[in-house]
Amino acid sequence: MDWGMANRLAQLIQPDGRCLFMPVDHGYFQGPTRNLEQPGKTLEPLLPYTDAVFITRGALRSCVHPARAKPIILRVSGGTSMVGKDLANEGITTSLEEAVRLNVAALGMSIFVGTDYEKESLLNLTTLVDDAERYGIPVMAVTAVGKELEKRDARYLSLCCRIAAELGARVVKTYWCEDFEVVVNGCPVPVVIAGGPQVDTELEVLQFVHDGIQRGAIGVNLGRNIWQNEFPVAMIKAIKAIVHQDATPEEALAQYNSAKSAEFAR
Ligand code: 5RP
Repeated sequence: MDWGMANRLAQLIQPDGRCLFMPVDHGYFQGPTRNLEQPGKTLEPLLPYTDAVFITRGALRSCVHPARAKPIILRVSGGTSMVGKDLANEGITTSLEEAVRLNVAALGMSIFVGTDYEKESLLNLTTLVDDAERYGIPVMAVTAVGKELEKRDARYLSLCCRIAAELGARVVKTYWCEDFEVVVNGCPVPVVIAGGPQVDTELEVLQFVHDGIQRGAIGVNLGRNIWQNEFPVAMIKAIKAIVHQDATPEEALAQYNSAKSAEFAR
């Protein structure tokens, strides 16, 4: 592997082989999502616990101080919105030249397997990989489901992840599901777990993150279940304990509860 590629991957995946990515890219199709109205403010207290930030160029430039940033995974697909015809109809929104100028550690884009735009999104991935590899920049593929959250099962997600890896993604981000090892075992590159909409309890999040890691995921790319929590710093500390310290969900919940009291007292 080229030095640049290896160095960028090492910025993302820590020496323990694990990673905690913080996505704040949701505005590119959802607008000012709850608790992400001002991405810079949302991100600031979470940065110390984050290994890398998944973000668009616009939010990066206007909301993240270049001297206080973490490695950047630049979201480079988009062109659709929640109120448009089809979320799957994305294109590539950002040039490689811009990514180099922003000194990013990786690029991230969504693929939409099984939709009317399957072929376009997969060919967008191959073109992006061809271009990015020339500069030693890894591409993270995101197996998007749009509004069809019920698609999140091992059969579908393992298909998506395998295709993404075969087409050249260096890392794949996908949803947690039952039998997650089926997804990981069928994917020859590292898999990270995306969160999805906020779930009902903290324990539920901690349990699916723990289960996914036990079944082979290398980490998480978890947004709303952290920054839409009432105590986001307590929540990211608990997630970090599972990802980097192999805490059980119960141990992580205990950490959440004690960090929550500290955050509340402040
Ligand atoms: C949104 C994304 C997010 O990065 C991804 O969905 C993870 O965030 P969350 O945990 O909030 O689902 O790709 O476009």
